[in-house]
Amino acid sequence: MISDTISDLGKNKKKIRQAIRDPVLFTQAFLNHVPHEAQKLILRDKHQFITVVAGRRFGKTKAMAFSAIHYAITHPGSIQFILAPSYNQANIMFWEITTLLSKSILVHLVERVYKTPFSKIIFKNGSEIHARSTTKPEYLGGHKAHRVILDEAAYIPNEVISQVVEPMLADVNGSWIKIGTPFGKNHFYDSYLKGQSEEFEDYSSYKFPSTVNPHISQEFIEKKKHEYGENSIIFKTEYLAEFVEDQNAVFSWQDIQKNIASVEQLRSGEPNRIYAIGCDLAKYQDYTVIVVLDVTETPFRLVHFERFNRRPYAETILKLKELYRRFNYAKVLIDSSGVGDPILEELQDIGAEGYVFTSKSKVQLIQRLQAAIENGEIRYPYIEELIKELQFFEYQLTRQGIKMEARQGFHDDCVIALALAVNAAETSVPPDDWEFF
Ligand SMILES: Nc1ncnc2c1ncn2[C@@H]1O[C@H](COP(=O)(O)OP(=O)(O)OP(=O)(O)O)[C@@H](O)[C@H]1O
Ligand SMILES: [Mg+2]
Repeated sequence: MISDTISDLGKNKKKIRQAIRDPVLFTQAFLNHVPHEAQKLILRDKHQFITVVAGRRFGKTKAMAFSAIHYAITHPGSIQFILAPSYNQANIMFWEITTLLSKSILVHLVERVYKTPFSKIIFKNGSEIHARSTTKPEYLGGHKAHRVILDEAAYIPNEVISQVVEPMLADVNGSWIKIGTPFGKNHFYDSYLKGQSEEFEDYSSYKFPSTVNPHISQEFIEKKKHEYGENSIIFKTEYLAEFVEDQNAVFSWQDIQKNIASVEQLRSGEPNRIYAIGCDLAKYQDYTVIVVLDVTETPFRLVHFERFNRRPYAETILKLKELYRRFNYAKVLIDSSGVGDPILEELQDIGAEGYVFTSKSKVQLIQRLQAAIENGEIRYPYIEELIKELQFFEYQLTRQGIKMEARQGFHDDCVIALALAVNAAETSVPPDDWEFF
């Protein structure tokens, strides 16, 4: 009997050792999750540079959370950074990690979790996991890492990879994993190609459609296919994970990318700066979007952004009045077609102006924004809704001329609000009580 128990113990020890070594078994044994088949491939991949191009809801964040925990436990004293184009995005993975740990026996291996100044987990074995945004690369200077995980990697600019990520890894010849949906042909695309080529031994890459995740409803995918169209650019990039560029895109993806920058978001304007406000009002089911640009000099900078729906118009009016005051009596331009007129009347005291949309005037408005984006005259932070809307904003040639709108099933409120703000900038002047120093 006793010898049986001892041999069981021996077997169990062997099993435990195996489970610790293999990230898939580790996830099952310690994190109470079974990675799906595509996640298993990624978790077991030992290449130094891994690129995973995968559709929405594939299970990207979850897979990376499993992987980060396994690495931290099995590499004592290791430093990992989760980087994403926004701090929110990086924290989604961070909180997935802390949630998984809190429900696991591994919680006993955690020394401490920090929320400020930046999210950080310290393990008792000396390992660390940090979450940061790439919009403020200056905060990343001087940090070294053994491993960097880049979520929504395609939205991280090329310069951040060469100027921040690669130097972070240089000291220890560290590794990175890039994961995300496709967006243009930047570093994410390049490393995907390297991973496919036999020439680059340290690289590997994968491409998976959303449908490989058995945990999401296939009905959901079918609904999206129906909503956007099977051959639509949105369905192809977001759900099939294909690197296709939209032939009819108004804003080239490369141009959208080059204007994404670290721009501090403000609640009120700074002294002696000129601001312009654009507002697209919600009609039926869509959103009201307000964009505030600092237009003191070019490039203009998007310093304040709001997007909401299902609120009474009276509230929007009050909000605009307040923003007007807080941002140094900024010029306000709203979409005055449809519901806009009565609202414009209520905004007379702040000198707000209305932009009347006809198919022709809309094209003019958008072309001005197009030029600003193309010429690099504008800087905006990574705001997911805005970037996606810019990405999927299309033009169509009709018999009546050119027509510009969001793809079916997509909104264009952010694009319009931004275009209105750029237009307002043209006529923005400093207020009367402007003080020069
Ligand atoms: N191995 C797994 N076991 C159980 N559920 C899973 C697993 N992998 C993913 N999921 C579930 O699938 C859904 C999508 O996962 P996740 O959020 O990780 O995907 P994503 O690719 O990061 O999505 P998004 O494109 O929205 O960022 C979530 O509900 C998640 O809980
Ligand atoms: Mg995700």
